[in-house]
Amino acid sequence: MDDLPLHVLDAEAFQRLRDLLTGHDFTDAGVCRRAGVSTVFEYGTRARDGDAVALGDGLDVLLRLFMDSDAVDEADLRSHLPDPDVELLTAFGLLRPPADGSSRWEARVRLYPTLGVWLVSDRDGPPGAERRPDMVYPVLTGSGRSFVEVVPTGPVGRYLELCSGTGIAALLGAAAGAEAVWAVDITARATAFADFNARLNGRPQVTALEGDLWAPVAGLTFDMVAAHPPYVPAARPELIYRDGGADGEQVTRAVLAGLPRHLAPGGVFQCTCVVSARAGRGAPQRVREFLGDEHEAFDLVFMHNDRFDFTRRFRAQLLSDDPEEAAAGAALLRRFDELKIEAAHFCTLALRRHGQDRPGFTVEVHRGPHTRWADLAWALAVGDAAADEAGFASRLLDAPVALAPDATFELTYRRGAPGEDPWVPTGGRIRVQRPFPSSVEVGPADAAILAEFDGSRTLRQHIAALQAGGRMPPQGDPERFARAFAPMVLAGIVDSGVAPLPAAPDA
Ligand SMILES: C[S@@+](CC[C@H](N)C(=O)[O-])C[C@H]1O[C@@H](n2cnc3c(N)ncnc32)[C@H](O)[C@@H]1O
Repeated sequence: MDDLPLHVLDAEAFQRLRDLLTGHDFTDAGVCRRAGVSTVFEYGTRARDGDAVALGDGLDVLLRLFMDSDAVDEADLRSHLPDPDVELLTAFGLLRPPADGSSRWEARVRLYPTLGVWLVSDRDGPPGAERRPDMVYPVLTGSGRSFVEVVPTGPVGRYLELCSGTGIAALLGAAAGAEAVWAVDITARATAFADFNARLNGRPQVTALEGDLWAPVAGLTFDMVAAHPPYVPAARPELIYRDGGADGEQVTRAVLAGLPRHLAPGGVFQCTCVVSARAGRGAPQRVREFLGDEHEAFDLVFMHNDRFDFTRRFRAQLLSDDPEEAAAGAALLRRFDELKIEAAHFCTLALRRHGQDRPGFTVEVHRGPHTRWADLAWALAVGDAAADEAGFASRLLDAPVALAPDATFELTYRRGAPGEDPWVPTGGRIRVQRPFPSSVEVGPADAAILAEFDGSRTLRQHIAALQAGGRMPPQGDPERFARAFAPMVLAGIVDSGVAPLPAAPDA
C-alpha cells in the first residue's frame, strides 16, 4: 500500500518503542492522571484546549501529537523528547518532520493507550475534509467503548476478532492468555494497522488477515469470537468502518450466520451492533433468525446499550440540512418504513454454544455503568444453571445465599383515605445496579428476611430458621420456595453459590 504511514521495524525496535512510551508515562494510568479523567475514554478536553496547555514534559508532547492530533513546534519537541526518541518515532512513520519552511512536527496517525494496550489508528483529517473510505477506526469513541469494555477474554485456545480495525479485541484476548489469535478485516489498511499494533504490543500470537468476515478463517473453529461491525444504515456506502447497508444490519447478519460453523462447543461470542425490531418481531427473536436452523444450540444474552438512543440518532442523521444528504435520508426513511422497522436497538449480544440437549435460552438485560464481560458471562452461566428448573431449585436450597451488597429497598405509598393512616404502603421493590440494573417487587416482610441473607447460611437453613421462628408456615415445601425464589437469583439481587456474582470492577 503506497500511502501507508507505518513502517514495520524489527522486534528490538518495537521493544524500544514500548520502553519510550512507558518511560514518558504514556500509559492508561499516566494519561488519566495528566488529563484528570478516570478512563482514557473520557480523554478529550485537553484536545479542545489546544495551545492553552503548556508543554511541560515528554508526556505532554506525546499527548499533543498523538491524542490531540495537534502539531508541536520544533523547539518544544526537542526540549522534551531526547533525539533518539524523535528518531525512533520518525523511523516507525508515526511522526512527520516539519515540511520545508515550517518548524511544526505532526503525528501521521493517532496513538493511544487503551485498557493496557497501545493502539495506532488513523487521524481525522482537518475539519470538513472527506475521510478516506478505509479509514482505520479509532477505539476512543462512544461506540468503541461500548464494545471494548465488554470484550470477552480468557485463557482460551483460539480467539477471533472479526471486523478488527486496530485489532483491539484480538490484543486484549492475547493479553488475557489466548494461545492463537486472529484479527480479520476487509481493508488492507486496517489489516496492516492491526499487524503493526500486534508488534507494538509484543503479541506474536496475533495474526492479522485481510478478507470478508469468515472467508479468511474458513474451516477453523474458535473458543471466543468478538465483533464490532459497521452498523449505520447508508443508502450510499461511503465509510467502510461505519456503513452497514440499507438497514445497517448487512454485516451483522453475515457475522451471525457464520457462527454455527465457527463457534466451538462451549465457545462464546460478543457482538456490539444495532439490531432492529421489525414487523412485530422483536430484536432478540431476529438475532435467532440470523443464526439460522441451529439457533437452539445457542444461549443469548441481549444487552441493551442505553448509552445512546440510536433510533433517534439515526433519524437525526437522516434529516440533514444538505439537500443531497436529506434526499438520501428520505430514501432511507422510506426503506425503514418498507421494512416495517419499529426500533433500532444499539445492543451487545453475548452468545454461548451450550453444547447440551436442550433449547437455547434468551434473556434481555440493560447495561449498567460498570458492566463488563464477566457480568455477561455470569448471565450465561446462571441462565445455564436455571435451564434445568427442578435441578436449579434443589441446588439453590443447598447453596449459601447473600443479598447483593448494593441492593436498595424502595417502598411506595398511596395517600390514605379518611379513617386510614395518612400514607398507606402499596408495594416495595428491591433494586440493584450490578451486574445489570434490575429490580423485583417485594413486600416489607420479605425485604426484612432478605436483609438477613449474609452468605453464612444456605437457603435451606434460612427456611428452617424461618419455620422454627413462626415466620414461614411449618408445612411449606422448601423446593417450592426455592422455585419462587429463583427470580431473585436470576436478577442478581441474591448472590448464590450456584453461580456466584462477579466481583465489582475497580473503577
Ligand atoms: C466499527 S469498526 C470496528 C473496529 C474495531 N473492532 C473497534 O472496535 O475499534 C468496523 C470494522 O469492520 C471492518 N469491516 C467492514 N466490513 C467488513 C467485512 N465484510 N469483513 C471484515 N471486516 C469488515 C471495517 O473495515 C472496520 O475496520
